[in-house]
Amino acid sequence: KIVPVLLAGGSGTRLWPLSRKSYPKQFSALTAPESLFQASARRLSGPGFAPPLVITGADFRFIVTDQLAQAGLPSGDVLIEPAGRNTAPAVLAAALWLLARDPEALMLVAPSDHAIPDADAFVRTVQGGVDAALAGQLVTFGITPARPETGYGYIELGPDTGAPARPVARFVEKPDAARAARMLAATGYLWNAGIFLFSPRTIVEAFRTHAPDLLAPVEAAVRDAAADLNFFRLAPDAWDKVADISIDHAIMERADNIVCVPFAAGWSDLGDWDAVGRETGSDTAGNALTGAATALDCTHSLLRSDDPALEVVGLGLSNMLVVATRDAVLVADRARAQDVKQAVTALRAKQ
Ligand code: GDD
Ligand code: MG
Repeated sequence: KIVPVLLAGGSGTRLWPLSRKSYPKQFSALTAPESLFQASARRLSGPGFAPPLVITGADFRFIVTDQLAQAGLPSGDVLIEPAGRNTAPAVLAAALWLLARDPEALMLVAPSDHAIPDADAFVRTVQGGVDAALAGQLVTFGITPARPETGYGYIELGPDTGAPARPVARFVEKPDAARAARMLAATGYLWNAGIFLFSPRTIVEAFRTHAPDLLAPVEAAVRDAAADLNFFRLAPDAWDKVADISIDHAIMERADNIVCVPFAAGWSDLGDWDAVGRETGSDTAGNALTGAATALDCTHSLLRSDDPALEVVGLGLSNMLVVATRDAVLVADRARAQDVKQAVTALRAKQ
């Protein structure tokens, strides 16, 4: 049995103004009728999967349960983080939770902000990692790199043993541009999809070895969690002592029992507007138009209105991002998509 562990606590600031502190991107319908979170849960709802364990912030707990119910999807327990501490503490809390309740299950850690159009192919790929996960390996899923992306992790594959899960020689999280370009040019590197399969026991042992300082405070936060319906609020006093670090830095860059199952059927991290533009169908000039948006003599631009009463018209634009919502409009150079979080920082400083 596989328990999907859905990470739904990120704030998605690079997708401002659609993604807001009170309603981050994973709960919005970015490119499909369903939200990214609903699509992620649906992908992992078929035979062989238990109801998901969701881990998120207090502000989002009812959004999570409402969206699962609206989509007709089962909800498992919902762990509530008193504050966001990045993915390592979230994964460790989920692992300790499962270890106490369902120790023989495998956990499939999945972000809630990805587009994976072929759900069946993805589930088959996950199944390709089950034997390795049962054997005590940390299973990653690898994507063929398409550009020298600095926002992802890179997996250097070891020798091909014929098994569906290849040994991993090295894991490099968010390289600088020069290193990313070298890995793109070389063979044998894949992007880390940010999706992991392992047993709770294996990952807790990995934390004990590679990030032992996280263990005691996260254990205390899980042990002293306060229950309310199927929400479990991790203990805030203990959580205060938890360091902010990603699973990629805390574990994946350090562990030596990592394997990788390649996944070739289409994957995208909808982390910024450039990526959303690539995933939205485009017109012949490469413009991605969503909602009440019109492009005249524009090329390779994203024009989007999330308010039906707000008409967006671009004229003579190239490589631009224009996103209009009820109360805010972003106009940016498409090459600066990664920097949109600066807009959020600047606005917060003004408040
Ligand atoms: N519950 C919870 N708490 N979830 C969180 C937190 C947190 O504090 N921080 C982030 N998340 C969620 C995000 O909502 C997202 O779904 C997922 O965890 C991954 O976080 P990101 O912040 O989006 O990570 P990233 O995109 O920079 O990098 C990761 O994903 C890449 C592929 O998309 C890494 O795993 C990279 O190696 C990988 O290539
Ligand atoms: Mg991401």
